[in-house]
Amino acid sequence: MGQPWWRSSVVYQVYPRSFADSNGDGIGDLPGLIDRLDHIAALGADVVWVSPFYPSPQVDNGYDISDYQGVDPMFGTLADVDRLLSALHARGMKLVIDAVVNHTSDEHPWFVESRSSRERPKRDWYWWRPPRAGMPLGAPGAEPNDWRSWFTGSAWEPDERTGEYYLHVFHARQPDLNWENAHVRQAIHAMLRWWLDRGVDGFRFDVINLISKHLQPDGTGYFVDGPRIHEFLQELHEQVWAGRETALLTVGETPGADVEEARRYTDPDRHEVDMVFQFEHMHVDHGPGGRYDVRALDLVELKRVMARWQDGLAEAGWNALYFGNHDQPRPVSRYGSDDPAYRADSAKALATVLHLHRGTPYIYQGEELGMTNYPFTALEQLDDVESRRWAQAALERGMDQAAALAAVNARGRDHPRTPMQWDASEHAGFTTGTPWLAVNPNHVEINASAQVRDPDSVFAHFQRLIRLRRELAVVVDGDFTLVLADHPTVWAFVRRLRDDELLVLANLASHDVDVELPRGWEGSQVLLASGPSDVGMPAAHLGPWEARVHHRPGSAPVEVKPMTGGETER
Ligand code: GLC
Ligand code: CA
Repeated sequence: MGQPWWRSSVVYQVYPRSFADSNGDGIGDLPGLIDRLDHIAALGADVVWVSPFYPSPQVDNGYDISDYQGVDPMFGTLADVDRLLSALHARGMKLVIDAVVNHTSDEHPWFVESRSSRERPKRDWYWWRPPRAGMPLGAPGAEPNDWRSWFTGSAWEPDERTGEYYLHVFHARQPDLNWENAHVRQAIHAMLRWWLDRGVDGFRFDVINLISKHLQPDGTGYFVDGPRIHEFLQELHEQVWAGRETALLTVGETPGADVEEARRYTDPDRHEVDMVFQFEHMHVDHGPGGRYDVRALDLVELKRVMARWQDGLAEAGWNALYFGNHDQPRPVSRYGSDDPAYRADSAKALATVLHLHRGTPYIYQGEELGMTNYPFTALEQLDDVESRRWAQAALERGMDQAAALAAVNARGRDHPRTPMQWDASEHAGFTTGTPWLAVNPNHVEINASAQVRDPDSVFAHFQRLIRLRRELAVVVDGDFTLVLADHPTVWAFVRRLRDDELLVLANLASHDVDVELPRGWEGSQVLLASGPSDVGMPAAHLGPWEARVHHRPGSAPVEVKPMTGGETER
């Protein structure tokens, strides 16, 4: 049997609210996405992952779902999903949808029933607990335990009607489902099978490693990689997609999972998921206080973390590779350079490094253009519930406005959510109405229409990287060795498949460097470069943010292996 098709795929993530608006209401939608599929196809990505489009009160922009089997009118209709599927399949592309099954919206009928009475059958579908012994509901310290919400505050919400608390790891309007209850699991399985029968090609599972909660009567316990997590995932796999796995892609979001745990999640022999989004590399520039505790990037540490995941999943399992998504600041602003002189080169260098690690690369909308963070000037401009709640609590603790704003400008989740920059026109071609979130003023320079026909653009560089993956098996299957590990600015590694080898070099700094090429690479062929190439010397010179890919072809050409299962042919 050949290798699974998704090992040689590239996934493009769409945040539908911010991608393209078809009807002028200022909010992106599915018809808008369908109209723009040529952009994604031209880039060369072959899988589209769409963030939630289901009916939702939009407290967390759709990650709070009130109906798993519908489409929010704001985004379109089920018929639009069907059209999206046909349009993608007609192009040989696939659709992965977001499965948010750790929690629902508080407006989901399951929760509405659950909170209505302690006697209702669905009471046990969520986590209800009485106040701590002898304490009145809502009194300070009466929460069942000290679990904190990842969106600030206690993870327990008092509910007057029935006099108990319910658990919400995220917003109080995102109550956690009780996966201990078999009926909950069966309902989720049935819902996911319904989507597969409709034709979707896989799932991105939101915070999937939080679904197993260990909650003792005395309040102790934990919910990251909980005690039944592997059992629940194996059951999910068995009940939802066993027998269809060769055609599908499943990726789990697993905050807090370490590489050993990730190997268990992704080892094909264990029948859980194909790959996971790990977070260790996202934490390198976080202080002990978390994402808004801003630290300068330690590049040496970032390289080490990424290399450790390469090694840890080399024999079994698979990496999902990402620098950005709808929850993270723009990679150019975070790891690259916002300086107009270096922005494009830094975007290319980062892409080169990411795409040539071993794993399936994910491109978040606009990353292929080198889109940047938004220059927020006031906290009132924020939309994101997580950032707003954090900033409010920080101000209450006594942080000054300027410091709170600086943290959010470094790390906030609104940055990736500003509208996609299609052209230089007003609102960047995203909408004819008023955009729901401000368009970055730099859309006049940074936009798709300026880049798609420019062979020197960030977009063109992404196209070349994707093409390289199609052409050289070593990109997909080659093993990985970090070189120059301690170099403070150069990210360098070797990929090798039999005797076919690539050397990737990227200078992540705004100054020149000379590096000693590893032995045997002098005079090697340069396959791909951003910036001027002048190899051939024992000491190689790299310009600011220059990236190069050197190739030492093997004695026999190594073809990309044929894919199995998927209809996708290239
Ligand atoms: C995931 C999503 C994020 C959301 C959270 C709660 O981390 O990516 O956007 O806020 O889960 O669903
Ligand atoms: Ca719209």
